[in-house]
Amino acid sequence: MQYVYIAVVGFHVMAGVFWAGTTMTMARDPEIRVERLLRPQMGAAMGVFLTGALLWYFFHGAYFGSTEMVLALGILTALAAAGVQGAVVGSASRQLADSDPTAHPRLRARMTMGERIAAGLLAITVLCMAVARFL
Ligand code: HEM
Repeated sequence: MQYVYIAVVGFHVMAGVFWAGTTMTMARDPEIRVERLLRPQMGAAMGVFLTGALLWYFFHGAYFGSTEMVLALGILTALAAAGVQGAVVGSASRQLADSDPTAHPRLRARMTMGERIAAGLLAITVLCMAVARFL
């Protein structure tokens, strides 16, 4: 069973680092073509939620103390980040594919703004995940 825990935590942290890391990178540099990374990011987000749910089932179950409160705050901000990326960045990226080139700067600015909001939310998630076990 120990190997299952190791695999699940390993995948969870790797996928989470990819998701949060690429989001923070794209929030810093509007020149990066966000639309090329959006699908892998959303795939990583899905992996993070699935493995996160497994971790909760393995180690926390129905117990809800201070550690779980901090984890829950991190989960909520991760959900909000995924929502912003799906709604704001995703819709702008779809419009980009069949829009006039004159509309591109406006759409790219919207995508960067979405990544900035998601990056702030994911920073809270990462902090909550890292400190929860000490509370
Ligand atoms: C950017 C997103 C995320 C990152 C980078 C991340 C990273 C981490 C890290 C580093 C840990 C600590 C592992 C340990 O100390 O053993 C952790 C624990 C945990 N994460 Fe996440 N996480 C993210 C999102 C999520 C989400 C969305 C969920 C739930 C759906 C979740 C559920 C959990 C749970 C339940 C634990 C506790 C495991 C334990 O008790 O040892 N995480 N996460």
